[in-house]
Amino acid sequence: MAEPIIRINRLSHAYEEGTPAIHDITLDIPDNAFLAIIGHNGAGKTTLVKHFNGLLKPSRGQVLVTGIDVASTSTAALAHLVGFVFQNPDHQIFSGTVQEEVAFGLKNLGIASHEVERRVGQILDELEIGAFRDTPPAMLGYGLRRKITLAAVLAMDPRILVLDEPTVGLDAHSTNEFFNHINRMHQQGHSIILVTHDMRLAARYSSSCLVMRQGCTIGYDTTRNIFSNSNLLACAGLAQPAVTRLGSALQDAGMPANLLSVEEFADAYLGLSEHTL
Ligand SMILES: Nc1ncnc2c1ncn2[C@@H]1O[C@H](COP(=O)(O)OP(=O)(O)O)[C@@H](O)[C@H]1O
Ligand SMILES: [Mg+2]
Repeated sequence: MAEPIIRINRLSHAYEEGTPAIHDITLDIPDNAFLAIIGHNGAGKTTLVKHFNGLLKPSRGQVLVTGIDVASTSTAALAHLVGFVFQNPDHQIFSGTVQEEVAFGLKNLGIASHEVERRVGQILDELEIGAFRDTPPAMLGYGLRRKITLAAVLAMDPRILVLDEPTVGLDAHSTNEFFNHINRMHQQGHSIILVTHDMRLAARYSSSCLVMRQGCTIGYDTTRNIFSNSNLLACAGLAQPAVTRLGSALQDAGMPANLLSVEEFADAYLGLSEHTL
């Protein structure tokens, strides 16, 4: 079997002596995954993913990224491998202009300035924020600041992209746009790890799901299997997406109980109608 992109081995983390925030987590994440990590507030999602790029060190256990032990690798060396988009863009932005912000990480990698300029220009164009290259990020609205943090991470072209509640505070249009970029990256071979408590986003975009509760993992399976397991979700304090519930409620009429999107619902419904009408 191919080497997992991330291997987590008996990982625990306690912020203070006493109760660990995450406890004894073991799992492999395959290359090119689109994994959603779901769970109630305080379940340990952020604590877990902060171990993927060395922002937190394990109290116990080990995290290997492409076989490399994160705890004994410098953050700079990991920057190529793992890009991290935080929940709040303002925790991440610190430069005077959009262009400087996006160039910062690349310069730190020691990349030649003409190449930095080329990559920054390309990313800004792709995300349609080229017009703001000389603007101070603080002058821009939330959605644009969110895009800038994404641009800064994308510019580094990391193999793994960790997104921690990336679209909280974005409207539906910006959220779609954001995920279009993420989907494109996934198709190009990047691995995506999406932390979210938005079940609709997880159902729509991820192909596998990890369910967390009180610092432990209680489910890890395909997104379809996870979302059709209402008991597991209830145990994690989460609800099935509305469209899944609707399919379940219509099971006696022949609808599947594991639908993930409105499009799938429509297909199943039209399939039924063809047979019964
Ligand atoms: N910096 C911190 N110091 C102390 N406790 C923390 C800190 N960050 C998180 N915790 C605690 O760790 C647990 C897991 O939190 P977190 O990983 O942020 O969960 P989630 O991202 O799922 O909401 C919670 O009980 C939270 O209160
Ligand atoms: Mg969190």
